[in-house]
Amino acid sequence: MTGPRLNRRTFLQLSGVSSAALALGVTAPAQALAAAEADAGAVPDGVFGLGVASGDPGTGSVVLWTRLAPDPLAADGHGGMPPRPVPVRYEVATDEGFGTVVRRGAAVASPELAHSVHPQIDGLEPGREYFYRFHVGRQVSPTGRTKTLPADGDARFRFATASCQAWYHGHFTAYRHLVDEDLDAVVFLGDYIYEYAITSSNLWRAGASVTPEHAVEIQTLEQFRLRYSLFKSDPHLQAAHAKAPWIVTWDDHEVQNNYGADGSQYGVLPEHFVHLRAVGYRAFYENLPVSLSALPEGPDSRVYRSFGDGGLVRFHVLDTRQYRDPLPVDAADQNREDRSILGAAQEAWLYDGLAASPARWNVIANGVTVAPITTNRTDQWDGYPANRRRLLAAMERTSNPVVLTGDIHKHVAAELRPDPAAPAVGVELICTSIASDGDGAPTDAYTPDWVQHPYVKLYDGRRGYVLVTLTKDSMTSEFKIVPWVEADASAPLQTVARFTTPAGAPGLERLA
Ligand SMILES: [Fe+2]
Repeated sequence: MTGPRLNRRTFLQLSGVSSAALALGVTAPAQALAAAEADAGAVPDGVFGLGVASGDPGTGSVVLWTRLAPDPLAADGHGGMPPRPVPVRYEVATDEGFGTVVRRGAAVASPELAHSVHPQIDGLEPGREYFYRFHVGRQVSPTGRTKTLPADGDARFRFATASCQAWYHGHFTAYRHLVDEDLDAVVFLGDYIYEYAITSSNLWRAGASVTPEHAVEIQTLEQFRLRYSLFKSDPHLQAAHAKAPWIVTWDDHEVQNNYGADGSQYGVLPEHFVHLRAVGYRAFYENLPVSLSALPEGPDSRVYRSFGDGGLVRFHVLDTRQYRDPLPVDAADQNREDRSILGAAQEAWLYDGLAASPARWNVIANGVTVAPITTNRTDQWDGYPANRRRLLAAMERTSNPVVLTGDIHKHVAAELRPDPAAPAVGVELICTSIASDGDGAPTDAYTPDWVQHPYVKLYDGRRGYVLVTLTKDSMTSEFKIVPWVEADASAPLQTVARFTTPAGAPGLERLA
């Protein structure tokens, strides 16, 4: 295993620089920048091979991201970069032609963080579109578009949700269509990568091939970095990042299938598993547009967070992996009152945040299914019924709560009710995968488990995304699919269902 325990202090020793923000790729004072530029020497061409991204939007701020990689698929996981820090300049403008630049700055891309930078841009105007790009020497990145959250309660806000992008199972056709939407944000709900070996038996993406270093289950930091590079080599994914700010959480495959806290279902001892978690979390930070607060300290990373202090929407982003109790050993254990999928600290944070939220819509970005489906699905909230009761009780006291979920590779729309006969306290919009499990079908072996419940209003097992539009009066949710992803990326987009949820009246009214 590579990748020593990383905390801010040891990181600064490793990188040999004195300023935390400089070393962590957030900002670089002019003097330090000049010194770094003098030392950087020549950087290979094509340094922006992984594209650009933005994320963690606030009403006045956004995080920008890029990771320098002139040879993204270099077998050693270093992306073709020399092992030295490289200064990166950035600019933010109100127009795509960069005629009105409102912010210029710089950050140092360090090999210790895979040459990623995460500059946070503050002091922006709410509900406004911005454009950004990076410079390394004379190389200029593609231009990204981003947007701050609205402060105005009368605004319209539209976002897409996505999850589960097993690159090897199919083309990212859904992203090809997603970039044509009029979007304020993208919410990603987990499984950005998968850790499995990629071999002829699971490589269903027609026309794709991989070199032998991808044919192993990933375990080292360099292998995780290479896996992110492989998935990010998809041009539609890069375009989706450049289209709008992303609000990202993780699920299990950013580390290992169905893990919980330090527990592996494959019998890896906790003292070994925490090392895997440390490198998985670190590679996640390096490759996604999340703010510095998510930088891991060893195997710990604070990913639960919230965005938005305006009148229309607040996002509450959950981590349903890092703090969960182990899978239950029996029914009595499963029904224990003190069982938690969020952990005590995150539960308190969430319930306080929901209660204090001034927003009309409270959107909860969540990894695994909340709605009761079957008690056998213990990896979902079904494995944590007491925690679900506490969540639904908090939702009952919240203004228009909406849960967004990924994980299951199916489109599902469900009303959330404290018990089956009670009125709904909120809705859950579960988005299918981008590519995981290949083409899929409208119905499959799991359909009966889901549609047996009167509160489940939609089930579809094909690939796609969900488009959500919020106004002060209502939420519209549109479930979009593409009929195939394995053969090529040419599939058309179809809408399989459209629902409206009036503000103040939780439930799903089917429009089409
Ligand atoms: Fe998945």
